[in-house]
Amino acid sequence: MNKPPDNYAFNQKHLLGLSDYSREDILYVLEQAKSFREILDRPIPKVPTLRDKTIVNLFYENSTRTRLSFELAQKRMGADVVNFSASTSSTKKGESLKDTIQNISSMKIDMVVVRHRSPGVPHFLTQCVDAAILNAGDGAHEHPTQALLDMFTMQQFHSDLRGKKVAIIGDISHSRVVRSNIIGLTKLGAEVVLCGPKTLIPVQVKALGVDVSYNLEETLAWCDVAMALRIQLERQDEGTELFPTLREYHEKFGIKLDHLDKYPDFKIMHPGPINRGVEMESEVADSERAVILDQVTNGVAVRMAVLYLLSGGNRVS
Ligand code: NCD
Repeated sequence: MNKPPDNYAFNQKHLLGLSDYSREDILYVLEQAKSFREILDRPIPKVPTLRDKTIVNLFYENSTRTRLSFELAQKRMGADVVNFSASTSSTKKGESLKDTIQNISSMKIDMVVVRHRSPGVPHFLTQCVDAAILNAGDGAHEHPTQALLDMFTMQQFHSDLRGKKVAIIGDISHSRVVRSNIIGLTKLGAEVVLCGPKTLIPVQVKALGVDVSYNLEETLAWCDVAMALRIQLERQDEGTELFPTLREYHEKFGIKLDHLDKYPDFKIMHPGPINRGVEMESEVADSERAVILDQVTNGVAVRMAVLYLLSGGNRVS
């Protein structure tokens, strides 16, 4: 089954991580996202679904595409949107997270989208306010909407992900994108192989039902999808050398034009931001085989679907 059963009902109040979502919940969100993807292709890509809702975007960590994508999704659905960025707020004056959120909540906010460098902050917020909480990335823990948009993009060329072979290449240790993808993809029945230098792949990861390879050639020969991840220098302890140089990393684990000729089937994905010449050659990112910009467009549709479902709504058009 590639769709939830007929008697299925979506009962989630928040989206903290895909570990709380069942296979049916994930398939249902992806199914809803298809309707929103069609709306985005209309001459006027707007619906009034959230016109009575107020949403705050609470970003304590840098973000370009995730913040813009959430904001666009909210505006496409007619919500009132307020944006909070830690660098220009009272957080700089020493206000605690709890006080900030309680103040915001007194302003009658329906939903909070939060990104924070500490894992668990979205969960903590559910205990402080009544609003629906959406995790837009908490430390190296989860980034559920990114994994949902990745799976949605894969479904566009492999409608059923059962048995599909997904390779995730790069900095596995520090990535929240990989955690959410492993959880989601294994629930949908895909096979996942993690590939990268030994120092960037934690040994315990196999317990999550995935395989590990330290050989890029073998991995690319095997996979249907190759998802490259950025080296998260900002999450690595200073002075701990996890690989010799970015150049050497690229030599061993960067996807190159040659690979596209040698292995003609796999598609290339990347959550962004890309470091051209590190995770992949620049020409690879711009090639026909890359669906990286589709991921960005699909991200708006997937976030519209999540916002719609968590707002308790039942009307798309
Ligand atoms: C990812 C993130 O923030 O975790 N980016 C994103 O949301 N598009 C990956 C990254 O920063 O490398």
